[in-house]
Amino acid sequence: MVKAVEWVDEKVIMLDQSKLPLEITFIECTDYRQVAEGIRKLWIRGAPAIGIAAAMGIALGAQDIRAENFDGFMEGLEPIFNEMLSTRPTGVNIRWAIDRIKSVMIKSRNESVDGLKELLIAEAKKILEDDIEVNKAIGRWGTELIKDGSTILTHCNAGALATGGYGTATAPMLVAREQGKRFDVIVDETRPVLQGARLTVWELMQEGIPVTLITDSTAGALMKNGEIDLTIVGTDRIVRNGDVANKIGTYTLAVLCKEHKIPFYVAAPISSIDFSIATGKDIPIEERGPKEVTHVSGRGGSIQIAPDGVRVRNPAFDVTPARYVTAIITEKGVFRPMDLKRLMDTDADIEEFRLKP
Ligand code: MRU
Repeated sequence: MVKAVEWVDEKVIMLDQSKLPLEITFIECTDYRQVAEGIRKLWIRGAPAIGIAAAMGIALGAQDIRAENFDGFMEGLEPIFNEMLSTRPTGVNIRWAIDRIKSVMIKSRNESVDGLKELLIAEAKKILEDDIEVNKAIGRWGTELIKDGSTILTHCNAGALATGGYGTATAPMLVAREQGKRFDVIVDETRPVLQGARLTVWELMQEGIPVTLITDSTAGALMKNGEIDLTIVGTDRIVRNGDVANKIGTYTLAVLCKEHKIPFYVAAPISSIDFSIATGKDIPIEERGPKEVTHVSGRGGSIQIAPDGVRVRNPAFDVTPARYVTAIITEKGVFRPMDLKRLMDTDADIEEFRLKP
């Protein structure tokens, strides 16, 4: 299976997703600023993959910190954390990775500075390994929602390329396929950057999963014709009341699903739930540059399709209110979005509010 990011020989290696599927090229990062640039320029993208890359970038940057003791080392890490946090604001994963790194550092405060540097590398690699295991668990719960013969719609790319491996929205599909279920996947092209057409279609074709590509505006018509049985998407951040941020266009799909009584599922690790934010209106939405909208890229490079000087809006994400989300597929089970806050309660009996297929 394709790997979006890896730590190899003291370097962060990322597959350049901005060139996929036409070119398979890898970028070797030897400086944390290069990793941050890769996140900004979408060489690596997808919230969990960004979190993993940021953790690896931090481990890379940490190797150059000259400090005498724990406090000096933590001070040296601060600008690296800030550089990573400044890259892409909507996903919670960079914040989550930094919190996880900080807690490992604090627990190991009596280690030497060299020891702390080694621990950072080990933790970054562990974040990647854990992500794959979590995704497989998402797949095992999510497959229960896929009936033999169904057609699944997905948006953007929440596959192996967007994670450490296996994907979140694609994990139930991979497990269903392992179980011998037959199903079809319909993929929205996902303008402006075409993650659906370029990445999800490529990944699913490599896995031998039957896939059909549509333009974003086709989904409603197919739903009306009864051609879609369920929708599964990923997410960049889920908040306490169950509102979900994901690639622009997700909200439209969720509303269409409700109108056509089609289940709308969001697949995500528990680490994507930001319990510090109460509702979706406080999720920061990244606005990207106009060129992504006025141009399209493909063989032959970038081609202008809109007149010079046109005013453009390009929010990269939207927020789907919890009432449109049938359920969230996590590594701990499938839950109604409004029940997620009970996961915070350590005494809660998860079994009691886990949805049965
Ligand atoms: O702008 P991108 O390509 O980083 O957006 C990616 C998405 O919206 C994904 O659906 C989300 O990050 C979840 S990936 C498991």
